[in-house]
Amino acid sequence: MPASRSTAAHKHTEPAANNLEAFWMPFSANRQFKQKPRMFVSAKDMHFMTDDGRKVLDATAGLWCCNIGHGRPKVVEAVSKQIQELDYAPAFQMGHPKVFELASRVATLMPGTLDHIFFTNSGSESVDTALKIALAYHNVNGQGTRTRLIGRERGYHGVGFGGISVGGIPNNRRFFGSMLTGVDHLPHTHNLKENAFTKGQPKWGAHLAEDLERIVALHGAETIAAVIVEPIAGSTGVLMPPKGYLEKLREICTKHGIILIFDEVITAFGRVGNTCTAAEYYNVQPDIITMAKGLTAGTIPMGAVAVDAKIYQAFMKGPGNAIELFHGYTYSGHPVAAAAGLATLDTYREEGLFERTKELAPYWENAVHSLKGLPHVIDIRNTGLIGAIEMESIPGKVTARAFEAFLKGFEKGLLIRTTGDTIALSPPLIISKSQIDEIFSTLSSVIKSLN
Ligand SMILES: Cc1ncc(COP(=O)(O)O)c(C=O)c1O
Repeated sequence: MPASRSTAAHKHTEPAANNLEAFWMPFSANRQFKQKPRMFVSAKDMHFMTDDGRKVLDATAGLWCCNIGHGRPKVVEAVSKQIQELDYAPAFQMGHPKVFELASRVATLMPGTLDHIFFTNSGSESVDTALKIALAYHNVNGQGTRTRLIGRERGYHGVGFGGISVGGIPNNRRFFGSMLTGVDHLPHTHNLKENAFTKGQPKWGAHLAEDLERIVALHGAETIAAVIVEPIAGSTGVLMPPKGYLEKLREICTKHGIILIFDEVITAFGRVGNTCTAAEYYNVQPDIITMAKGLTAGTIPMGAVAVDAKIYQAFMKGPGNAIELFHGYTYSGHPVAAAAGLATLDTYREEGLFERTKELAPYWENAVHSLKGLPHVIDIRNTGLIGAIEMESIPGKVTARAFEAFLKGFEKGLLIRTTGDTIALSPPLIISKSQIDEIFSTLSSVIKSLN
C-alpha cells in the first residue's frame, strides 16, 4: 500500500471541503469523476440544480426512487416533525406507532395475502431478508433440505452476498458471486432477433420459464427453496417479461412447492401503472415481494419485504415469548423513515400518481418509440413510465457510447441513466407531457451527436 497519502502528518492537516479524495464513490469511475465532478446541490419537483447553477431535468427519478419528485412539502414536513418528536426507537422488542401504521398501509397495497411487512434499509437488505425468510420458512415447515436458491442471468438483486449470488451480472459477481453455494440461474429473456422494438411485453420468450423444470429435474424439488426474479429487470438493461413468462414461473413454483420472490425494488410504487406493484399489473401472485426506493420516494433510506400470510403464520408457533425470526436491523422501521413512508404513500394517493402512470403510459410509449431509426439505436422497450433505448456497442468498448450519451445529456440539462449501452429512463410519476417532450427532444439530439 502506498504510504504517502495516509501518513499521520497528512491526517492532521485540516481537510478541505472541496477535497474529493476521501469519498470512495459506489458503482462509479472514481478517478474520472474526481477529475471533472458533477455535483447536485439542490432539487425541487422534476429538477436537480448543479453547483454551477444549472437546472437538470430528472428523467430517472434519481436512481428509480424519487417517484413523487423532489422536495415535496408533505414529506419534508413529516420528516422534520418526526425527527423532533421521536428521532429513534429501538427496533428490537420495542415499537413506535408509525411503523405499525406504515406496515398496515403497505400491506393494503400488496396483492393477495402478502399481509406481513418486514422493514429494512435498502433493496439489497430486502433481497437478503427475503432469501433468509424463504430458507427459514422451509426449515420451520419441516423441509430443511430446501436450501437451493434460483436466480436468473442478467438479474440484479443488490449487492449483499445473497443478492449477488442469485444475481446474474458478471461484473457484480466476479469476485464475490460464488460465496453462496447451492445457487442456480434461469436463462435471461433478452432476445433482439425475436423481440426488438416491442411495445410493452414481448410475445417471444415464455418458454424460457420452463428451464425451471430442467433445474428441478437436475437438483430435485426437495432441495430448492426459492426462485427470485425481477418482474421487469432494471439494472441489466430494462427487460420486460415475455407474455406468459411470469405466469409459467408461478405455475412451476406452485407445482414443486418453491417460493416465488418478485424483486420489486424498482417496480413497486406505481412505476408500471395503476397498481402499486408489477405483480398486480401482470396479475401474477408471488409469495414474497421485495421493495425499497419508491417506499419513501428516495428521501430517507428504507426497504420492505411483503410476505404471504401462510409464510408468516408458519413462524408464529411455539412458546409465545420465543423470537420467531433471528433477523433484523438496528434501523428496521426507523421512525424518520416510517414518517417519510407514510407521507409518501399519502402523496401517491392524494395526487393519484399510480393512476397517472397509467394515463401517461401511451404518451410516454409513443415518445420513447419515436427514437426508432436514430443512429445506433437497435432496440426500444417500454412499460408504464419506464423506457429503454439500447444502442449498438462500439466494438471493444462496451458502455462507451451510452456513457457519452449520459455526459452529453447532463451538459444539456437532462439526467439519464445508462447500463451497458442501454439508456434507462424512469422519471418521477409527476412528470408533465411537455417534460416528456423535452426528454425526448434532448435525447434525440444527444443520440444524433454520438460517436
Ligand atoms: C431489482 C433491484 N433489487 C435490489 C436493488 C438494490 O437496492 P439498493 O441499492 O437499495 O440496495 C436494486 C437497486 O437498483 C434493484 O434494482
